[in-house]
Amino acid sequence: SEPYETLLIERHGAVTLVRINRPQALNALNSQVLADMVAASRAYDADPEQRCMIVTGSEKAFAAGADIKQMEQMGFAQAYAANFFAGWEDFTRTRKPIIAAVAGFALGGGCEVAMMCDFIIAADTAKFGQPEIKLGVAPGMGGSQRLTRAIGKAKAMEMCLTGRMMAAEEAERANLVARVVPADQLIEEALKTAQAIAAMPPLAAIANKEMVNAAFETTLAQGILFERRLFAGLFATEDKAEGMSAFVEKRLGAWKGQ
Ligand code: CAA
Repeated sequence: SEPYETLLIERHGAVTLVRINRPQALNALNSQVLADMVAASRAYDADPEQRCMIVTGSEKAFAAGADIKQMEQMGFAQAYAANFFAGWEDFTRTRKPIIAAVAGFALGGGCEVAMMCDFIIAADTAKFGQPEIKLGVAPGMGGSQRLTRAIGKAKAMEMCLTGRMMAAEEAERANLVARVVPADQLIEEALKTAQAIAAMPPLAAIANKEMVNAAFETTLAQGILFERRLFAGLFATEDKAEGMSAFVEKRLGAWKGQ
């Protein structure tokens, strides 16, 4: 439970803002950050008052990767036995929306955590990369898969093989990020977007997230079937009745989350 050793948590109404806070290591993701992020995302998911979460870092670094100092002494047996990094899968099981607000370095595991979020809003200072090859390794938290799905093989392969950084503008062109904003407006813009999402009917938010994510896991026909079933399922909710009446009556809906 709060407070977390490596995270700062702020509540802005129904929005939870999570700041990764290891400034001495450019927010490198050690086991404590993983444990804290998993605990914070579970607490967020379980709190019906909280409707959207933002994950951010500092102005200088979202996160400069997995903690190299922690990995330096590690051999195969230890990494394999510990199932190193597998814990991040728990973070990706969060059902409610999560936005990554990225300024500065998002490298290696930092880029991978940003991609685990539902979408990325980038400051114009953001720099993305998978530089693991320079350390004699490769992405280990999903980067080879999520980056390739996001920006395609040519750019993903180039990024992984050269370890080069991709600036915000290129990341937007390549569809890695939803939007680029001036660095001094990053948190304000992320909060605005999160508050818009937080004002939506909460079950519909979960369903929309599930549907879009299904596109990465299945065939088109199965995905469309999944969508149609979930779409019909939403017709059983009170918020569907309220949302459609509110539209017809030209007023704002009042959501119950039921
Ligand atoms: N792990 C541990 N410590 C890190 C770190 C990391 N990934 N990245 C930075 N730090 C530490 C530095 O060691 C330094 O600490 P000291 O002051 O104690 O020496 C401190 O943070 C500040 O960093 P720099 O002095 O290097 O800052 P800079 O502005 O000169 O350079 C940088 C910034 C280019 C991001 C550089 O820090 C860098 O290249 N970092 C490593 C990036 C990287 O290789 N990331 C991938 C890690 S592997 C991985 O993530 C595996 C995976 O797929 C999950």
